[in-house]
Amino acid sequence: MSSDKNELQSMKQATRFIHAGAHPDPSTGAIMTPIFQTSTYVQEAPGKHKGYEYARSQNPTRQALEEALAVIENGKYGLAFGSGVAATDAVIKLLNPGDEVICGNDMYGGTYRLFSKIFSRFGIQFKYIDTCKSENVHAAITPQTKLIWIETPTNPLMNVSDIRAIAAIAKKANVLLCVDNTFATPYLQNPLDMGADIVMHSATKYLGGHSDVIQGALIMNNPELREQLYFIQKSCGAVPGPLDCFLVLRGIKTLHVRMKQHCENGRKIAHFLRQHPKVDKVLWCGFEDHPQFEVAKSQMRDFGGMMSFTLKDDSVDAATKVLCSTKLFSLAESLGGVESLINHPASMTHASIPREERIKNGLTDGLIRLSVGIEDADDLIADLAQAIG
Ligand SMILES: Cc1ncc(COP(=O)(O)O)c(C=O)c1O
Repeated sequence: MSSDKNELQSMKQATRFIHAGAHPDPSTGAIMTPIFQTSTYVQEAPGKHKGYEYARSQNPTRQALEEALAVIENGKYGLAFGSGVAATDAVIKLLNPGDEVICGNDMYGGTYRLFSKIFSRFGIQFKYIDTCKSENVHAAITPQTKLIWIETPTNPLMNVSDIRAIAAIAKKANVLLCVDNTFATPYLQNPLDMGADIVMHSATKYLGGHSDVIQGALIMNNPELREQLYFIQKSCGAVPGPLDCFLVLRGIKTLHVRMKQHCENGRKIAHFLRQHPKVDKVLWCGFEDHPQFEVAKSQMRDFGGMMSFTLKDDSVDAATKVLCSTKLFSLAESLGGVESLINHPASMTHASIPREERIKNGLTDGLIRLSVGIEDADDLIADLAQAIG
């Protein structure tokens, strides 16, 4: 017994996350998707095969994951890539020299690096604006604009853009909207339901959930867009290996349980930090006085476990002391795993953004980012308390 994709789409989230892409293996009945560790498939005669020719183009483990990605994001099609950056790369390859992209001025540093250091050399223009104000997006559109790229909430400043409003602007201008949904995950937010054309994920983060895989994903509804992106996937070749696909498939099964705990711990830690006498600002989109709280509340089901904060002593030395003093929060890049991580965006995840640009947009040298894991919240709070001192 296994549920078909359309039947599953009508069920509740927990059921969808557990059963997405899962079909008993026809040759053995194995309940878990086998890891098809193969590069090619034997053909009976030239062109006479079982639908699989070469593993860059088709792999059954990847196909199971791609079906799962579609199910969890309420989309029709999913495509898996070798990393989140590879998925982003595929979206920009839909464009031609001379085309313009409107994107946020606060985003993951690797996305900024891909846009500004790689694709701008190929004649694609990127306009970095504050997309939290939807009217800025409207004003920035020109006849050359082909794509709007938003990350919401943003990494690391937790800014929120209004997906519905920007999707309406994009539709009117006949421009594609792609939403990086890495921070929110489909547990909290489904951009396709709000009018986005493409959802992008760094599956490395919450979808995988255990800090043991690098992977990216795209989900969409339009069959032509799917064909174009599939063509780019197989032509450019940034496909994930089958073991990695298996790991993300396994991660998705517990996404709802993990996210519930990330949200609960995130809420406790955000409030703890906020009342701490040595802490200055806490950036978390669940605070009622967060500048885009109403938008966040209208498009997210809860507020997650990602947050950033600054100390009243906003020096790099004071931040470094905290970054080096935590015992449960490990100092590392990445996020979204079951274990808590602490990170210094200015020198780690966002070091590729020029300092003046960073500071102008609010990413100061003393900013500390937390990926709150699902350990016991009291232990996490005690760890931060001893580290902040
Ligand atoms: C919001 C966001 N988007 C995209 C990426 C890139 O993903 P990957 O590291 O899987 O290439 C990251 C990685 O940190 C990220 O945080």
